[in-house]
Amino acid sequence: MITAFCLTVLWAGVGAFPSKGEQPLAACAEPVALNASTNIWLSYTLHPHSIYRPYYAAAAGIVNDTVLKDKAIKVAETGTFLWIESNDDILKIDQAIQDVPCGNVLGLVINGLSHAGCDETIGETPGAKGTKRQSESYLESFIAPIARRIQQYQNTAFALIIEPDILPFVVRNPYYKECTTSQLEYRSSIPQALKALDLPNTITYLDAKHAGWFGWNPNRTPYDTKNIARELTVAWERAGGAALKQFRGVSVNVKSYNSWDMSPGEAFRDESAVCADLFNKARNEQRYVALLGQSFKAINSTFPLHAIFDSSRSGVQSIRQYWHDWCNNKWAGLGPRPTLELQRRVHARDPNFDAFVWATPVGFSDGTSEVGGLGWHANCSSEVAYIPMPEKGAFSQNYFETLLRSSRGVKSRGFGNGVVGGEQGVKLERRCDGK
Ligand SMILES: *[C@@H]1O[C@H](CO)[C@@H](O)[C@H](O)[C@H]1NC(C)=O
Ligand SMILES: *[C@@H]1O[C@H](CO)[C@@H](O)[C@H](O)[C@H]1NC(C)=O
Ligand SMILES: *[C@@H]1O[C@H](CO)[C@@H](O)[C@H](O)[C@H]1NC(C)=O
Ligand SMILES: *[C@@H]1O[C@H](CO)[C@@H](O)[C@H](O)[C@H]1NC(C)=O
Repeated sequence: MITAFCLTVLWAGVGAFPSKGEQPLAACAEPVALNASTNIWLSYTLHPHSIYRPYYAAAAGIVNDTVLKDKAIKVAETGTFLWIESNDDILKIDQAIQDVPCGNVLGLVINGLSHAGCDETIGETPGAKGTKRQSESYLESFIAPIARRIQQYQNTAFALIIEPDILPFVVRNPYYKECTTSQLEYRSSIPQALKALDLPNTITYLDAKHAGWFGWNPNRTPYDTKNIARELTVAWERAGGAALKQFRGVSVNVKSYNSWDMSPGEAFRDESAVCADLFNKARNEQRYVALLGQSFKAINSTFPLHAIFDSSRSGVQSIRQYWHDWCNNKWAGLGPRPTLELQRRVHARDPNFDAFVWATPVGFSDGTSEVGGLGWHANCSSEVAYIPMPEKGAFSQNYFETLLRSSRGVKSRGFGNGVVGGEQGVKLERRCDGK
C-alpha cells in the first residue's frame, strides 16, 4: 500500500529547473553568511558543479532516445554533491568553485576518515580498507586544506555532508573489537572537522546513515537509534554543541535507495512481511528521522535535528532482497528532482525536513562487479547488482541510462516487500504501526 503523498516514487518537477525564470547570477560580490537557523534550501539551489557535469553532458550526447536524452540533460542541470575522499579530490574544489553563481550552493561530501581494520565483511565501503589516511593526520592534511579553501572562497556558499561512511563501524562496539579504533576516531576526528569547518559561508550536516542501518529494535542489534543519537550527540557536543554556528542537522540515505515516506515501507527477506516493524521500526527515512528525534529527547540531547535526504536513487522501491543490498542496484531509478517547489511542499509538512538533495553522483559506480577486481565486494555482483560495472567511482554510461530509464514512473518492482518474508517465524495479525 502506498500513501497518496509518496514523493519518493515520483519523478517530480520534470522541466522545472530550480532557478527557472532567473538569470544565472555571477558569484556573490560580498562574503556569504548562511543562517543555520533557517532552511537555506528554500533560498539556495544546489549547484550542478563542473566536475560531474561534463560526464552527464557527454552521456546525454551519446543517448539516441530523445526522451532519455532530455532526461540526461536534466541530470546535467541538477545539482549534485562533490565527493572529497582524498587529497587529490581537494583540488577539485578549486575547479568546481569557478562557476558557482550567487544563489547556488556548492555541495561537498567530506569522506576522508580512516576506518581500516574494522570488519572485513562489512558491505558499505569496498576498497576502503587500508586505503585511507591515518587518523592523526585527518585534521592537518585533510580537513585543514578544505577549510582554507572555504575561507578563501568566502563569496561562495557551501553545504557539507560530514563522513557518511563511518557511523556503522562506530556503533558496532562493543560487539566487534576491531571497531574500537573507529569509535575512538569518530569521537576525536568528527568534532575536529565540525569545528574547523564551522565557517560563515557553510551549512553543515553530520551523516546519520539510514533506516536500514539504524532503525532496529534495541534488543536485536547494536544499531538502534538511541546508540546513534548518543554518538551524534557526543561528536556535536565535543565540537562545541550549541556554540557551533553553522551546524544544521543530519544527512540521511546517502548513496542508498530508501524512500522518504513510502508507507508502510519496505520489508526484506530476513524480516517478517506481516510485522516487519518488530525488527526495524524505521522503514522509511521520515520515520527514521522521527525515531532519531525521540531518541535525542530520551537522552536529553539538544542536537539540532534538521534533515537532508539523498533522493538520487530513491525513485523505485522494492528493488532489494535485503537492506544490505547496497551496490549498484540494477532496478534503481532517479528519485525526485530537488526543485524549490518540492522542498517547500515537503518542508511545510515536516519541520524536520530541510531538503531532498542528490548526494550520489548519477551513474558512477559503487564498486566493481568483477570478481576479484580492485576493491571488489560480493554485493557488487549479487543478483540485484548491475553487471558489468567498473571500479568504484568510475562512470558507467549503461548504469547512468538505467537510472534515467527507471525514473519514468516505475513505482515498485514488488521485490522483497510482502513477497517473501516471515522467514524468522514471526507472524502477527496486525501491523506494528497500529494502522
Ligand atoms: C537567522 O534566522 C533566524 C530565524 O529566522 C533569525 O531570528 C535571526 O535573526 C537570523 N540571524 C541573522 C544573523 O540574520
Ligand atoms: C545509438 O546509435 C549508435 C550509433 O548510431 C548505434 O550504434 C546504437 O546501436 C544506437 N543505440 C540504440 C539504443 O539505438
Ligand atoms: C552483502 O553484504 C552483506 C554485509 O556484508 C552480507 O551479509 C551479504 O551476504 C552480502 N550479500 C552477498 C550477495 O554477498
Ligand atoms: C532528562 O532530563 C529529565 C528532566 O531534567 C530528567 O528527569 C531525566 O533523568 C533526564 N534523562 C537523562 C537520560 O538524562
